[in-house]
Amino acid sequence: MKRFDKTEDFKLDLPRRPRRMRRTASLRAMAQETYVRVEDLIAPLIVKESGEKEPVGSMPGLYRLNIDDLVAECRELASLGVPAVAIFPNMDASLKDALGSEAGNPDTLTLRAVRALKAEVPGLSVITDVALDPYTSHGHDGVLNKDGSYVLNDETVRRLCEMAVLQAEAGVDIVAPSDMMDGRVGAIRKALDDRGFIDTAIMAYSAKFASAYYGPYREAVGSASAAGTTLLGKETYQMNPANRREAIMDALLDEDEGADFVMVKPAGAYLDIIRELRDASQVTVAAYQVSGEYAQIHAAAQLGWLDYEKTRDESLLAIKRAGADVILTYFAKEVARKLKG
Ligand code: PBG
Repeated sequence: MKRFDKTEDFKLDLPRRPRRMRRTASLRAMAQETYVRVEDLIAPLIVKESGEKEPVGSMPGLYRLNIDDLVAECRELASLGVPAVAIFPNMDASLKDALGSEAGNPDTLTLRAVRALKAEVPGLSVITDVALDPYTSHGHDGVLNKDGSYVLNDETVRRLCEMAVLQAEAGVDIVAPSDMMDGRVGAIRKALDDRGFIDTAIMAYSAKFASAYYGPYREAVGSASAAGTTLLGKETYQMNPANRREAIMDALLDEDEGADFVMVKPAGAYLDIIRELRDASQVTVAAYQVSGEYAQIHAAAQLGWLDYEKTRDESLLAIKRAGADVILTYFAKEVARKLKG
């Protein structure tokens, strides 16, 4: 066996050397396959009735905002080029009941926020959640049966249709059913069309998993009671994290029922579902990088264990690479700022 005395003695005969395209910054730029653009970002925002902006403990940088502060925040997002915001209400406990009656109030907080936003920042698309969880005392996304052991599907869908119509009347661009009841997309589409709201789009939370990553959000909007402190969890309507085929099946049902967007939620732990849905569906695929994904990156960075910006940017790039067309992310504003230079 020949000894390697000099480095030139050892040479691989390789016509294909992938590293050639990684040698310089300009070669790497030409080889880059995926980008996160500001147009891909949707900012979830929490609105509250009144008072100063309040930080959400487990989500550094996120605040509950009154309507005036919400409008100011949205002006800034629009000026950065962010195309849309998703509004979630933090309801006063006194307005919650078992039926989520406040969701049917034509002057409820969310609707006033939508009217203010459409008047003040008309170019920004506004998305509203269609689900009862901010309004129910038990925190579930729908109406419970008599003994509180099950969320009633069809009765909940009737309430969601009512909510979606109120939101459309307030001028919202996109309604986003996040409840995971069966048949709600088709029922909402029909309710909207029957009343002339043919151009109100539907972003369906299609593959929404029963995930531990929602914890910080439930603190933010105060729907924590359903997260495990009641006997009934959300796994009778949200999807089993183990299931891939079921996720695609349910999303394609939503598409058939008229969804304009199908969503996968959470995002980071479900990149395989995002990819498979992008390949299977013909409509725009949204991914929701949820509160727990955001909190995780912040927590590790605070401990000095991860580089904050690099981890944040890599998390979003991975979601794009998996196939998401748009990303709901609490990082939207800071990333839009960075992209704007
Ligand atoms: C429920 C809803 C949830 C989120 C938004 N709307 C999940 C839940 O409480 O089950 C989670 C968002 C996040 O974690 O960022 N309608």
